[in-house]
Amino acid sequence: MKDIIRIKTSLSEDIETLLNNQVKMEAKSSAIYLAMAAFCDRLGFENSTEFFFGQADEERSHMLKIFKYIADAGGTPISPEVKDVPQEFESFRGVFEAALEQEIEVTKAINKIVSKAYKEGDHATANFLQWFVSEQQEEEFTARRRVELFDVIGEDGIGRYMIDQKISKIGPPESMEE
Ligand code: FEO
Repeated sequence: MKDIIRIKTSLSEDIETLLNNQVKMEAKSSAIYLAMAAFCDRLGFENSTEFFFGQADEERSHMLKIFKYIADAGGTPISPEVKDVPQEFESFRGVFEAALEQEIEVTKAINKIVSKAYKEGDHATANFLQWFVSEQQEEEFTARRRVELFDVIGEDGIGRYMIDQKISKIGPPESMEE
């Protein structure tokens, strides 16, 4: 029976499960970024608030991209249940450190699926995920740069205000641009 069902999809059960886990992870990232936006808003950092709203949208688009890929490959995408979203963060700096950690975890998860896809000979999935590999490279780079602002500018005096001004101006280096 199982084999008959699998005939409808080119995805193996393992890959489909990993992709659905990734759908969930992107949905959770989106929800966490939303909480980060609210946190920055409470602290009065306007640019950071807007930045995190934008990140929340981006993560939702990542979730949809994978969700649709599973469906297009004949699999069964699962609408994710998102639980345990943190609403509080240690500090203004802490929120950016948490964002960097989150991106590092996403990179690891994407790499794991790519490795598994190659191992199984599922080149379509490996190929599809290359976009995410590049995206994560950029996301990690810019997330690190944002954390570094706290050391480069410093938080004293108008430091935090200046950091907030710079947050949305950080982009990827030329080597990572498409
Ligand atoms: Fe879609 Fe930045 O994780």
